[in-house]
Amino acid sequence: VIDIGALYNTTGAFTYDPGFTSTASCESAITFIDGDAGILLHRGYPIDQLAEHGDFLEVCYLLLYGELPTKAQKDDFDYRVTRHTMVHEQMSRFFTGFRRDAHPMAVMCGVVGALSAFYHDSTDISDPYQRMVASMRLIAKMPTIAAMAYKYHIGQPFIYPKNELNFAANFLHMCFAVPCEEYKINPVLARAMERIFILHADHEQNASTSTVRLAGSSGANPFACIAAGIACLWGPAHGGANEAALNMLGEIGHVDHIPEFIARAKDKNDPFRLMGFGHRVYKNYDPRAKIMQKTAHEVLGELGIKDDPLLDIAMELEKIALTDSYFIEKKLYPNVDFYSGITLKALGFPTTMFTVLFAVARTVGWIAQWKEMIEDPHQKIGRPRQLYTGAPERDYVPIAKR
Ligand code: ACO
Repeated sequence: VIDIGALYNTTGAFTYDPGFTSTASCESAITFIDGDAGILLHRGYPIDQLAEHGDFLEVCYLLLYGELPTKAQKDDFDYRVTRHTMVHEQMSRFFTGFRRDAHPMAVMCGVVGALSAFYHDSTDISDPYQRMVASMRLIAKMPTIAAMAYKYHIGQPFIYPKNELNFAANFLHMCFAVPCEEYKINPVLARAMERIFILHADHEQNASTSTVRLAGSSGANPFACIAAGIACLWGPAHGGANEAALNMLGEIGHVDHIPEFIARAKDKNDPFRLMGFGHRVYKNYDPRAKIMQKTAHEVLGELGIKDDPLLDIAMELEKIALTDSYFIEKKLYPNVDFYSGITLKALGFPTTMFTVLFAVARTVGWIAQWKEMIEDPHQKIGRPRQLYTGAPERDYVPIAKR
């Protein structure tokens, strides 16, 4: 038994909670999740209603300011975001310093981190105006930077933003237009892109958001904090899961091989997990996964893809897993990443871009959470404690005597 009080010279409660499974790190009024019931609300509004009726910038406004905007507020917000979609021209040269075969997430970590070098006039976090400008810049520039990372990756010229298009359509334009051809926006695909952005906009204190808050708690500027969030999002247990899920479906290859992979997922001696399944908070169907599944069908239907082998495998895998006692007992359901990969692939994105798109969408959640923290009068620097398990105090031994 460890006398924690004596060991840490502390009075009061001291909890040891690896992975923060039962420790609240903050108060927040942004997002509510009831993981047992499969409910996700942003500022009180159900995610399915926002995904069905809202547009992405409306959801951004809601997350940042707490209410849905009036028409005048929305027009003003759209204008303010839109006028920041360009990036400093010198940034395009920054991209060319990366190897072309670099993972776009590696490029994102670097380029977004560099924003504070290009926009240092909005890094003073004590100034509310600068905080607001930094927030607009981040929301507006992330799709441009993400599209540039994609274009650089595939060796095509960068495409400037087209500000008469909405957020999602503009992003598709920057990714898929080429200078010598006209690029027509397909409204069904643009709407699907928008829905993907809405579904990924915020998810309370997940690993990347907590990373942003922790970085921000030291007073680091918002560009640096978001770069930290991007780095955390990259991991396959978090935002990298959509890429991993699609790769896994490809590896399964045929519905006949599903039982073999289900058996591997259940085998405790095999590190394999069903990617896109399970969630720290949802112990029920992730409400975003249902919308994502519907969106996948809409996109494949619009593109005339009748038999997508990966979608067939995904649907069959879901059916088998949901009736399997291992998955039932452990309450493992498909999460948002399970169907998003199929949709993104159909939209034309390579798997390496999937987590990048997640980062574009999640930027507003990170910013809203960062803003809430900065404006919280009780905000303190984040400083988790530890249970020390190392050597007791001992004397230094000169190297000749070791
Ligand atoms: N496949 C097989 N078994 C699983 C899976 C899975 N996908 N997920 C969890 N389990 C099992 C674990 O082996 C563990 O079993 P045990 O109790 O016998 O040891 C039990 O379920 C609980 O799992 P934990 O890892 O303790 O749960 P945790 O809450 O820490 O992990 C996580 C959640 C990381 C999402 C996990 O379910 C996972 O790795 N899933 C696959 C990756 C994934 O899809 N991530 C995306 C998350 S959503 C997002 O970031 C947008």
